[in-house]
Amino acid sequence: MRVFVTGASGFIGSAVVPELIGAGHEVIGLARSDISAEVLTAAGAAVHRGALDDLDSLRDGAAASDGVIHLAFNHDFADYVGAARTDRRAIEALGAALEGSGRPLVIASGTLGLPAGRVATEHDAPSASPRNAGAQAALTFAARGVRSSILRLPPSVHGEGDHGFVPALIGMARSTGVSGYIGDGSACWPAVHRLDVARLFRLALEQAPAGAVLHAVAEEGIPVHAIAEVIGRHLNLPSASIPDNEADEHFGWLARFLASDVRVSSTVTRKLLDWQPTGPGLIDDLDRDHYFHNPSA
Ligand SMILES: NC(=O)c1ccc[n+]([C@@H]2O[C@H](COP(=O)([O-])OP(=O)(O)OC[C@H]3O[C@@H](n4cnc5c(N)ncnc54)[C@H](OP(=O)(O)O)[C@@H]3O)[C@@H](O)[C@H]2O)c1
Repeated sequence: MRVFVTGASGFIGSAVVPELIGAGHEVIGLARSDISAEVLTAAGAAVHRGALDDLDSLRDGAAASDGVIHLAFNHDFADYVGAARTDRRAIEALGAALEGSGRPLVIASGTLGLPAGRVATEHDAPSASPRNAGAQAALTFAARGVRSSILRLPPSVHGEGDHGFVPALIGMARSTGVSGYIGDGSACWPAVHRLDVARLFRLALEQAPAGAVLHAVAEEGIPVHAIAEVIGRHLNLPSASIPDNEADEHFGWLARFLASDVRVSSTVTRKLLDWQPTGPGLIDDLDRDHYFHNPSA
């Protein structure tokens, strides 16, 4: 298949590209800069110049493809609502270009906003949010002749090159001298290794039925205190509870994510696509040490 991949130069995209090429697909990656174009060329992908807010570039890329994987997202927490709006418009443009073709459109979504207090499944709808509006938009194309599916990713997609929440926690522990968690730290984060995610994106592209909601989750939920304890051990810092009323001040923008307690199952996904995660768990991955040599942490 000739696959148009947005976000192909990112943390997850740079695992998806070799996964697709290794399975015999041809990859055309969206690049908004010379640096990203060079990264894609080095990975063996063709380059399609454009950007998320250049909807013509997205339509052209999708129309010339046999299928699309959409991973690009501007992770600017200063304007998250704006980034989510750009994402939704991009998804609508990609979907419209594939309308009536039966071709696949697989988009990255998240598990944040799924119901708390029990194990959430693929059948659960997330709370309404600007980001989840993009996922909803993708699913509407299932009724318009697009084999669209969404892959919900947990807050920790981990592995070499991670620059997400776990490195942010490590950075925070370094700067405050404490590897903290909120309250008793029993809030859980689901997790998955990026190579398992890459394989699931390929399987979804090849096989997911129209309208499928998939969970890229290997571990249902890891208590945040367990993550903080490993970080503390590696940095030789105490791990400690931060009271609820000090969490915003201590953790800043991360507080909201640390407090989110969502356990997530992937039973339906595993059965539907015969997907079995094989990568290390998050705690084992942290013990492999690469997180503590990452300059961005
Ligand atoms: N990593 C996680 O733990 C995690 C968890 C849940 C959900 N997700 C979701 O999974 C997807 C991939 O995440 P990631 O970790 O791979 O992200 P990432 O490493 O930050 O990569 C983002 C990608 O999007 C591209 N991009 C950003 N803004 C763009 C724009 N305006 N126009 C064109 N391209 C643009 C970047 O291109 P440049 O190379 O030019 O910067 C890069 O290729 C995202 O939707 C993310 O929200 C990730």
